[in-house]
Amino acid sequence: MNAMSPIAVVPVIPESAPFSPEQRAWLNGFFAGLYGGAEVNSTPVAAPAEAEDMPWHDPALELEERLALAEGKPRKRRLMAAMAQLDCGQCGYLCQSYAEALAEGREASASLCVPGGRTTARALKAMLAEAPVVANPTVVSTPAPTTEMASVLFAEKLTREGSAKDVRHIRIALTQPYQPGDSLSVAAPNDPALVQAVVTALGAPELHEAFAHERDIARPGDTTSALLARHAKDPAEAAALRALADGDDNAEPADADLLDLLLAFPSARPPLADLVAALPRLKPRLYSIASSPRAMPGHVDLCVGVARAERRGRVRDGVASCHLAYRADAALPVFIQHSHFRLPDNAGTPVIMVGPGTGIAPFRAFLQHRALGEDPGRNWLFFGDQRSGTDFLFREEILEWQEAGVLERLSLAWSRDGVEKIYVQHRMAEEAAELWAWLQAGAHFYVCGDALRMARDVDAALREVAMIQGGMDAAAAKSWLASLAKANRYQRDVY
Ligand SMILES: Cc1cc2nc3c(=O)[nH]c(=O)nc-3n(C[C@H](O)[C@H](O)[C@H](O)COP(=O)(O)OP(=O)(O)OC[C@H]3O[C@@H](n4cnc5c(N)ncnc54)[C@H](O)[C@@H]3O)c2cc1C
Ligand SMILES: NC(=O)c1ccc[n+]([C@@H]2O[C@H](COP(=O)([O-])OP(=O)(O)OC[C@H]3O[C@@H](n4cnc5c(N)ncnc54)[C@H](OP(=O)(O)O)[C@@H]3O)[C@@H](O)[C@H]2O)c1
Repeated sequence: MNAMSPIAVVPVIPESAPFSPEQRAWLNGFFAGLYGGAEVNSTPVAAPAEAEDMPWHDPALELEERLALAEGKPRKRRLMAAMAQLDCGQCGYLCQSYAEALAEGREASASLCVPGGRTTARALKAMLAEAPVVANPTVVSTPAPTTEMASVLFAEKLTREGSAKDVRHIRIALTQPYQPGDSLSVAAPNDPALVQAVVTALGAPELHEAFAHERDIARPGDTTSALLARHAKDPAEAAALRALADGDDNAEPADADLLDLLLAFPSARPPLADLVAALPRLKPRLYSIASSPRAMPGHVDLCVGVARAERRGRVRDGVASCHLAYRADAALPVFIQHSHFRLPDNAGTPVIMVGPGTGIAPFRAFLQHRALGEDPGRNWLFFGDQRSGTDFLFREEILEWQEAGVLERLSLAWSRDGVEKIYVQHRMAEEAAELWAWLQAGAHFYVCGDALRMARDVDAALREVAMIQGGMDAAAAKSWLASLAKANRYQRDVY
């Protein structure tokens, strides 16, 4: 589940590294963002990896279940249990390191868990209110990832005319070694239109660089609202900003970016340096690599869903996906995030891959790898998306692999082709006997894509297969799946 390794001290790019001063400054900011919002060379953000049982670290569990599992544990673990358990990195930490940073007073904002939303923020704030936080000076060092400036070679549309989605096949020139299952961490700048509008609203052109590359202006968070509230001259604006900072359900403007806040609260103008410091750092985004080094030496492919939406009459661009799709005209800092998500060591072991939507990415890498290595193991892919005519990502390659026998089985689920929604887990249920036979033959089972809905339902479908085909009761099916995961035969890369 955890696609990243524990993180600690913020690395600093040495003066001798082959980067210009601007690139070095950019990369140092990038690492500070990645390593937890701490300033460069400051305190650590995570304890060393522990062989500690953390049963709440499962995104399929509800908040109450997770909190119950952490009951009686130290506060940093109870805080961790309130996170969404996706290790998605959107807060700038992992679930464990964000909880530790909060518990140790190194992080002030309790509203950074994007998938957990307000429910998580509320639970965190309640726990933090129990007692004052105590600082922990332990310092642990960790090797810096190898970052390079990489060029985007193309960003071709995979979805066809008429699709509700814009999914891109991105190719990036890259020299670092990687393996199928790894992800690429990409540091992209903010949307230039938003940067310009914020700079104009503040009348502060000197902040252009900070807003473009260093600070998260799309999700300013509760610390920014709290700062604005303290400086609002209009009492009504101050009250509305406090409600936002407190995460009140009805607080407006909901889902505000910095421009929304500046426009809605014209009397709230803190000193510029304080405003910049109150904004979260801009964090890099992770993308599952969709190519094998056997096919693409010197390059990686990604499969990126473009996040663009309209809110309050303004187009809101997802930072990295829109940059990669529309604006990647200069080299970007990237590094390989090595993963636990791996093909079996034995090339003859059968694999079952469930990857609807952009979840196909690592499985294209797996299939390329196995096809080019002429690996003897059997492969079964479950793929799906909205419509077969427009959303069959990597259609030609997948059908060629089927034709060539690389894919022994291909199960497709189109959710909007017919009257009824067909999802990958429905195909699993239809093929339950065969699925069970593959698992009995030692198959490894992989899931990639949407964590909150799809991965939960696929998990339930797998337990159902064990119950129906294996004659287990619910508890036995649950522990069978846990033992499969322990043996690395059930791996998830979900976000
Ligand atoms: C291990 C891992 C692997 C991944 N692999 C892939 C992959 O292969 N392909 C893929 O497409 N993605 C993948 N992701 C997801 C990816 O990392 C990004 O999260 C995704 O692309 C969105 O990033 P973004 O910068 O484009 O959008 P963001 O800027 O992060 O915005 C995300 C969404 O939130 C909305 N938003 C922005 N600001 C606000 C606000 N203030 N309030 C409410 N909503 C707001 C945006 O409109 C957008 O829809 C992966 C994630 C992980 C953790
Ligand atoms: N958590 C959410 O609410 C949510 C919603 C959308 C996207 N996302 C994010 O979007 C990204 C992936 O998007 P994507 O466009 O590549 O793929 P996606 O949104 O996961 O869609 C791929 C396919 O999965 C289907 N699907 C929807 N719910 C499902 C479920 N419970 N079980 C199985 N399949 C289901 C979709 O059907 P339909 O679309 O027809 O239902 C579609 O056919 C991820 O970052 C994910 O986290 C999250």
